[in-house]
Amino acid sequence: MDAAPDPETAPHVAPALDLGRLRSAFPALHSGPSSGLVRLDGPGGSLVPQEVADAIAAAMTAGMCQRGALTSVEQLTEATTTGARAAMGDLLGTDPRGVVFGRSMTALTFDLARCLGADWGPGDEVVVTRLDHDANIRPWVTAAARSGATVRWLDFDPETTELHDVAGVLNERTRVVALTAASNLFGTRPDVAAIAAAAHEVGALVHVDAVHLAAHDTVDRAALGADLISCSPYKFFGPHLGVLAADPDLLETLHPDKLLPSTEAVPERFELGTLPYEQLAGVTGAVDFIASFAPGGAGGTRRERLVAAMGAIAAHEQALLSRLLIGLDRLTHVRVHGSPAARTPTLLLQVDGVEPRAVHEHLVGHGVIAPAGSFYALEASRHAGLGDTGGVRVGLSPYTTHDDLDRLVVGLGRLGC
Ligand SMILES: Cc1ncc(COP(=O)(O)O)c(C=O)c1O
Repeated sequence: MDAAPDPETAPHVAPALDLGRLRSAFPALHSGPSSGLVRLDGPGGSLVPQEVADAIAAAMTAGMCQRGALTSVEQLTEATTTGARAAMGDLLGTDPRGVVFGRSMTALTFDLARCLGADWGPGDEVVVTRLDHDANIRPWVTAAARSGATVRWLDFDPETTELHDVAGVLNERTRVVALTAASNLFGTRPDVAAIAAAAHEVGALVHVDAVHLAAHDTVDRAALGADLISCSPYKFFGPHLGVLAADPDLLETLHPDKLLPSTEAVPERFELGTLPYEQLAGVTGAVDFIASFAPGGAGGTRRERLVAAMGAIAAHEQALLSRLLIGLDRLTHVRVHGSPAARTPTLLLQVDGVEPRAVHEHLVGHGVIAPAGSFYALEASRHAGLGDTGGVRVGLSPYTTHDDLDRLVVGLGRLGC
């Protein structure tokens, strides 16, 4: 009889993602204008499962008006709000009492930078990276300009897309370091924890843009060393809104612009106007949807199930990515930009002699949606020598299949003929 494998020495094989069940959850894959198309545009916004749409519809028609404790509808509105904070707390590994909802990550970051920048003056410094989406650059640059603070740019190697050493831009006057957990253009994953540790040594706050990463891997705010972290649920099966999360004690120290009658309580202090309750119901639906893909059943806390599910998603996507890179390597007219040590399954491609826009159009003709551009990572595109045009972005999602990628490679191959 064979001995049972020793768990200490057996190679780690991540439990599989139930791809059939996952794909069947997305109406857009099976009916309507997107049916039959290969969707490689996930970094711009994921598809939405029916159960998330159902949660939103149910919330919209439930008669919710204001939060409170008196009527059952008030209680439902309250539970919908705290439920969404709990869901995002589980997804980001953070205290739900420090979860703020807003219109978008961009809007939240402008609000945050304006709030923090009100305390800066000449001599203070802010670090932004050229790898980031502009939503984690311009709000800080604008706040610095308004306050007289200096902006320090953390560059990256245009060939590999790896960030330079942060030590070169830090000093005791650094107030904030804003950086991405993963580039939405190249997929590059900087060593956020190491950069955050260096920033903390000089007493700076760290704001991490986890918009792109949250769709592809487990996010743990504390492990990343992020004092503040933001993401956008529409990148991971949810509705269009933004999330900012921090330790509630840190939020207590900040005083954003707000209306006189609105509450001083945290996190509500940061939420302007009435929250979009139906979208909050969708956020919870999206987080529960992800958690339901924890391999091997529904045991453990939701956070544990999310970590297991994201592990299965990451393993699925990274396996597809490895295979895709081999396929692309055979196409001598196609170049993948960058060679970072760690990346999400997002690639920026150049095709020799063909404009990115023309490649996009050609692929649409093959039923493959892989858009062209710089995707608001304008500094990154320019610094990489790609100007404002960028490249063709191929973004794998949990619902991507081997067949999808074969169709992409065949379509790209025809451009070399
Ligand atoms: C990495 C990254 N950061 C920030 C944003 C902006 O997010 P939002 O659309 O919620 O403002 C995006 C949107 O594409 C993104 O990809």
